[in-house]
Amino acid sequence: MPVITTKKELQRHLSSSPNRASLGLVPTMGALHPGHAALVRQAVAENETVVVSIFVNPTQFENNEDLDKYPDTFEKDILLLEEITKDVVVFAPTADEIYEHRVQSKTYDFEGLDKVMEGAFRDGHFNGVGTIVETLLHLVAPDKAYFGEKDFQQLQIVRKLVAKKDIPVTIIGCPVVREANGLAMSSRNGRLSEALRQEASFIYKTLRAAKKKFGTKSAVNVMDWARKQFEGHPDLRLEYFVIADVETLTPIQKKKPEVKYRAFAAVYADGVRLIDNIALN
Ligand code: PAJ
Repeated sequence: MPVITTKKELQRHLSSSPNRASLGLVPTMGALHPGHAALVRQAVAENETVVVSIFVNPTQFENNEDLDKYPDTFEKDILLLEEITKDVVVFAPTADEIYEHRVQSKTYDFEGLDKVMEGAFRDGHFNGVGTIVETLLHLVAPDKAYFGEKDFQQLQIVRKLVAKKDIPVTIIGCPVVREANGLAMSSRNGRLSEALRQEASFIYKTLRAAKKKFGTKSAVNVMDWARKQFEGHPDLRLEYFVIADVETLTPIQKKKPEVKYRAFAAVYADGVRLIDNIALN
C-alpha cells in the first residue's frame, strides 16, 4: 500500500491516472477504529481510487496537552487499512509539510454553525478543521469526501465550507458506528477504564430515550429530562445536551413539523471528552 508523506509526491501519484472514474477522500487523524473503517469501506465501494489521510491536525486542538495526548498508532492503522484493501493510498504528512512552518488556522464565517455546541466549548476548533479540510480537498481534489455523523456539527460545517468556497466535491455523511454497548466509537475510548466504558453507554441510552420522548413531549421537557438523568451518573459530567435544527444547528425553541432535529450530547468521563448525537425525526 503506498504511504505518501509529501504534497508533491501525492499529486504526482494522483496525476498518473487522470481518467479514473472517481476519486474518494477519507480524512482522519489516525488511531483508526471500526468507525473509520466503515468510512473507508464505503469510499472503497463507491470510488476507483481512495486516499485516506492520517494527520493529527495541530490547529484544531485548543491546547498542546490534548494534542500531545492524541494516540499515535500508525503501524496498527496501516494494518487495519490493509485488512480492508491494499488499494488505498495513505497520505501521512508532517505538520511542517502541511503548514510550511506557519502552523496557523484561517478564519472562516460558517454562518453561526461554529458558535454552538462544540464551537462554544472549543475555541478556534472549527477554524482548524476548516483549514485542514480545505487544504486536503484542494490537494486531493476528490469527487467524494467521507465524514462521520458521529461529528455531526463538523459534517455540517464541512458542507458549509464546500458550498461557500464552491469546491467541486460531494460530501458524504456516514452513520455512527458503535461499540456493542452503544457507546459511539472514538479514538478517545481507549483512555477510559473498562468500568467507565460501560458506564459511558448511558450517553447513547439517554439519547435513545430522548428520541422516544420527543414524539410526545415538548423539546424543553425532553432536554430538562435528559440533563436530569446525568445527575444520577456523577462519573459522567454533562457539558451540554441540546436539541437543534440539523441545518442551522440552532437550539430548538418550538418544534416545527417541517424541520429535522437531532439531539447532541457532550460528556466528560474522567477527563475524556465524549460526544454523540441521534436523529429525532
Ligand atoms: P477523526 O476523529 O480521526 O475522525 C475521522 C472521521 O471519522 C470523521 O469524519 C469522524 O466523524 C469519523 N468517525 C469517527 N468516529 C466515528 C464513528 N464512531 N462512527 C462513524 N464515523 C466516525 O474528525 C476528524 O478526525 C478530524 O477533525 C478531521 C476531519 C480528520 C480533520 O482533521
